[in-house]
Amino acid sequence: MFLHYGDLSDSVNLVKLLYELKLDEIYHLGAQSHVRVSFDIPEYTADVTGLGTIRILEAIREAGIRSKFYQASSSEMFGKVQEVPQTEVTPFWPRSPYGVAKVFAYWATVNYRESYGLCASNGILFNHESPRRGETFVTRKITRAVAAIKHGLQKELFLGNLEARRDWGYAPEYVEGMWRILQQDEGDDFVMATNETHTIREFLDLAFGRVDLDWKEYVKHGVRYERPAEVDLLIGNPEKAKRVLAWEPKVLFPELVQIMVDADMEALSRRDAKEHLGRLP
Ligand code: GDD
Repeated sequence: MFLHYGDLSDSVNLVKLLYELKLDEIYHLGAQSHVRVSFDIPEYTADVTGLGTIRILEAIREAGIRSKFYQASSSEMFGKVQEVPQTEVTPFWPRSPYGVAKVFAYWATVNYRESYGLCASNGILFNHESPRRGETFVTRKITRAVAAIKHGLQKELFLGNLEARRDWGYAPEYVEGMWRILQQDEGDDFVMATNETHTIREFLDLAFGRVDLDWKEYVKHGVRYERPAEVDLLIGNPEKAKRVLAWEPKVLFPELVQIMVDADMEALSRRDAKEHLGRLP
């Protein structure tokens, strides 16, 4: 593997890179991807998350190559949901600058497929989590706090809206799904989801319960984590991905929570052990 320098805001560099590399497959996962943050930096989010996508698509065209293109589209595009569960034909109603930018990128991908015959596809992925999830997203924020509280290193956890419902799956399976999408001969759009939805409260119940703690003793309300507009309910129907790609999620909600809590507990135990060894005479 080789890491090249590049930037989604720099089209000349993208054209040069794609011309030199002549890739078979491009997985475009780059974005300012934090929904809450997108309310603070909307213009930057539109530039990188929205325009960044059209810069890559245009770079493929300019470089005269035929790379297959995967766009990381998001369940956030459904926002104020118009249908339950959401499918590939549910209309979008984004509720954040991030969601708006992703809708732009989604249609740019469809448009380049229709205009120039690119093999360009959208994976409309619902939330996908793992122990490698960024620490400011709610699942990992919770599982890290559970481990820290259990180890006596943290006393409280500030969270925003606990009533939101999300369709949470296991990220490694979704990455395989992305690969399956690009193994198709034609570009297309696919929802990837578990078809289950759970509140943040339910996540808290399972995560704290895993280490025999009651979250109500530790969780406090942090107004700064509320969003100006919330996405209340997400639940996706992955029927098309099952039928066409033979893709199906196997790790469901309780197991996902366990995997994440256990990984953070393990990481802290290792750190504790190291610090303990460091203190030995
Ligand atoms: N981050 C965060 N922090 N979210 C909180 C908190 C908190 O302290 N308290 C409550 N929440 C709620 C949010 O309001 C939201 O309803 C829900 O938890 C999930 O928030 P995130 O984990 O930040 O994820 P997201 O659903 O907004 O977006 C993620 O998933 C999308 C779909 O796959 C991101 O990864 C997006 O980039 C992605 O497109």
